[in-house]
Amino acid sequence: MIEQILNNIKEIESFKSTNKDEIENFRIKFLGKKGLVSYYFSEFKNIENSRKKEYGLSINKLKISAQNKFNDLSSLLSSNSANSNSLNDLTRPGNSIEIGSKHPITIVKNRIIDIFSSIGYNVSEGPEIEDDWHNFTALNLPEHHPARDMQDTFFIQTDPDILLRTHTSSVQVRYMEKNQPPIRTISPGRVFRNEAISSRAHCIFHQIEGLYIAKDVSFSDLKQTLKYFTESLFGNSKIRLRPSYFPFTEPSAEVDIYWGLETEVDYRITKGTGWLEIMGCGMVDPNVLKNCGIDPDEYSGFAFGMGIERIAMLIYQISDIRLFFENDVRFLKQFKGTL
Ligand code: PHE
Repeated sequence: MIEQILNNIKEIESFKSTNKDEIENFRIKFLGKKGLVSYYFSEFKNIENSRKKEYGLSINKLKISAQNKFNDLSSLLSSNSANSNSLNDLTRPGNSIEIGSKHPITIVKNRIIDIFSSIGYNVSEGPEIEDDWHNFTALNLPEHHPARDMQDTFFIQTDPDILLRTHTSSVQVRYMEKNQPPIRTISPGRVFRNEAISSRAHCIFHQIEGLYIAKDVSFSDLKQTLKYFTESLFGNSKIRLRPSYFPFTEPSAEVDIYWGLETEVDYRITKGTGWLEIMGCGMVDPNVLKNCGIDPDEYSGFAFGMGIERIAMLIYQISDIRLFFENDVRFLKQFKGTL
């Protein structure tokens, strides 16, 4: 009997077919209710005790190889038939290709670049890993100056200090070192600060800073430029400038946009004032111009800087800054079709 079973196993192993009926007959012969596997099982009681173990093992082997063979042949059969169907129906629509979407930070960055390009600004870029001079010292933040604490910093190396830039003002320094006025440039880019991550703050974010240097540039030019920008981006909006402090500008101001106080959310995001801070700005400090090789007696200018995440959160009513970095497709998909 065992001999017979081993022969059956050989037969199974060499069995090949792509014919549905043949495969079904194979199943009935071995695995069917009255098939060989159940027949051999029913004979188990008639086997001598000393051979029961060997017998049992061989029918198990038979059963498993019959099942595997049947599964393999039927899955081959179904994939073949799927293929031949698709070739038969040439009018079937093609496989659709999912088109992704631009990241909201890219969308907002491009909109801001468009607005400033339309009034003659070019785009400048610089390294994310900076030296102390371009990130701090040239910007009128000498070593040990307490204003450095305004921007918690990731240092890569000390003495000489190499760090992840805390703002893209460093790009403006590089630009001024290489170009003489008139200068009109905006510097978009990723910046890094050693901040605790929350719904409103992240240790990585994006900025766009702007710089305009020419003869007789005044504070009213700055205000008018910002008004043009905010109206282009947010529609007919009101802004106000609040006196503030930055080491690289004098005088300095914080720019608020009037957001309104109609809903509970408006109260929450504007802390009950209706105004929302969107950027810092000011007239470039003469020391900075000097540090970058520009004569402050001949030229003057203004600078401003904003966080792109903050602006995107306003435009799209996004309540948590962390969403920009998680790259969850359910979030990103919502920006499909936005240019
Ligand atoms: N560099 C400042 C910051 O990152 C922003 C700023 C730029 C302020 C230019 C004034 C003028 O906080």
